[in-house]
Amino acid sequence: MIILKTSQEIEKMRVSGRLVAEVLQELKEAVQAGVTTEELDRFAESRIIAKKAIPAFKGYRGYPKSLCVSINEEVVHGIPSRQRRLKEGDIVSLDLGVKVEGYYGDAAITLPVGGISQGARRLMEVTERALYMGIEQAHEGGHLSDISHAIQSYVESFGFSVVRAFVGHGIGTSLHEDPQVPNFGSPGRGPKLREGMVLAIEPMVNVGGYEVEIQEDNWTVLTADRSLSAHFEHTIAITRKGVEILTAH
Ligand code: MF3
Ligand code: CO
Repeated sequence: MIILKTSQEIEKMRVSGRLVAEVLQELKEAVQAGVTTEELDRFAESRIIAKKAIPAFKGYRGYPKSLCVSINEEVVHGIPSRQRRLKEGDIVSLDLGVKVEGYYGDAAITLPVGGISQGARRLMEVTERALYMGIEQAHEGGHLSDISHAIQSYVESFGFSVVRAFVGHGIGTSLHEDPQVPNFGSPGRGPKLREGMVLAIEPMVNVGGYEVEIQEDNWTVLTADRSLSAHFEHTIAITRKGVEILTAH
C-alpha cells in the first residue's frame, strides 16, 4: 500500500532530507586518502546526534553502523571498519539515512578519493545523471516505471549496467515503504504517480554486468565480475508544484 503524504508531512520530511544532505556535504571534505571508513561513520553519527536526530540505518535489520561506505567494486551496504582505509584512486559511495520527528530521509553520493581514472569518473557522472533522468520523470500522471525506464536507458546507452537485485523505495514513517522503485523496466507500468508520493530513487550502476553477490559479512554487496560500481540516491516528493528533491545540497 502506497502511503501518500500531506503537505505537513512533506514539510517534516524536508527537515530530515536537509539533514541528510548537510551531513553528506560535510563528509565530502572528510573523504581523503588515509581516512578509515569507521572514522567516516563516527563523524556522520556524531553530526546526526548533535542535531537531535536518529541514524536510520543503525540497528536496521541488524545493520551495525550509521553510514554505509562502499568502495570500488562494492555496490552498497559496505560496513565501516577500523581496518579499511581509503586510498588515492578509489571511488567511495556514502549512503546515509536519518529520522527526525518520526520521518525518514535517505540519500547517497559517490565520491573520488584524490585522482581517479577516466573510466571511474565517467561511471560516477553517468550514475548521477541517471538519477536526475529518473527524477525528471517523477510527475503526476506518469507511471512509476517511467522513472525506472529513464534510468535504465540512460545508463545502458553508455554500455554500463543497472543493478537489478536492489531497488529504490517509498519512504515516510518507515525507511522502506511501498512502492519498490526499480532502476530498470519498460515505461508506462506500475502505479500512477500522484501528488503526495515520496520516493527514494537510487540507481546502482556497474561498469560490467549487473549481477551482484553478498560478501561473508552478510551485508556488503559487490559486483559479481568485480567491476567498479557507483550509487547515487535522493529522496524526492511529488507535490502540487512538481517534483521536489528533499535531500538536495
Ligand atoms: N539507502 C539504503 C536503502 O534504502 C540503505 C539501507 S542500508 C541499511 O536500502 F543498513 F539500513 F540496511
Ligand atoms: Co534507500
